Amino acid sequence: MNRYFAIVPAAGSGSRMGAERPKQYLPLAGQPLIFHALATLCAVQAIDSVTVVISAEDEWWGLHDWSRFDGRLHVLRVGGATRAETVRNALQALSAGLDEDDWVLVHDAARACLTTSHVESLIATLSGDPVGGLLAQPVADTLKRGDPSGRVLQTVSRESMWQAQTPQMFRAGLLGKALIDITGVTDEAGAIEACGLSPRLVAADATNFKVTFPQDLALAELILQSRSV
Ligand code: CTP
Ligand code: MG
Repeated sequence: MNRYFAIVPAAGSGSRMGAERPKQYLPLAGQPLIFHALATLCAVQAIDSVTVVISAEDEWWGLHDWSRFDGRLHVLRVGGATRAETVRNALQALSAGLDEDDWVLVHDAARACLTTSHVESLIATLSGDPVGGLLAQPVADTLKRGDPSGRVLQTVSRESMWQAQTPQMFRAGLLGKALIDITGVTDEAGAIEACGLSPRLVAADATNFKVTFPQDLALAELILQSRSV
């Protein structure tokens, strides 16, 4: 029987957002931004438990009421200097309760518009996969490589190009080892690729974008509100 565990790295500072607090705690549709991804993951039946990983110095988590997720949500204060380090620390902290073959779904706190259908489609596609994979979206726009002065150096073919999203889903044993052996990657799939394996791309859509810049907040709010009516 497959078991599924979610890990939500949330130890970043949100530097590109430039706000007075880490972006995961900015208000969004009446809740802290991180609430939305946690609510979605906690609502997925197949997932045993959800672990949010915050920094040891986090002063914001305790200011909010998370009691509606009691029994589903756990908090670890083991955030690292990079996202990969945060996930690696979490896997080490959870290792006693994880089997090698358990599936781990790693999801950015900042992807607030994740739906249960996105997660269920990822799980259904990958549960028998030998490697694992990630939600992603085929690139629609023409791509340009720019120079430091903001002028086009070259047009890059978008053929076969995908934008990586999260959750990214891999077996606990493989992912834990990859994140110890491989450094300098920005997502879990990057660590798995560096081990010589090919994660599967599972098509999602643009609503599962990462809230990164100030103007992204209004779009995320519109998407969330459109679903609640
Ligand atoms: N993250 C983390 N630990 C870090 C850095 C990032 O857990 N040391 C988390 C973020 O909190 C976020 C996810 O990884 O949920 C994706 O990172 P990103 O969107 O880049 O968030 P930040 O790193 O906080 O933002 P920025 O890069 O603009 O500073
Ligand atoms: Mg970052």
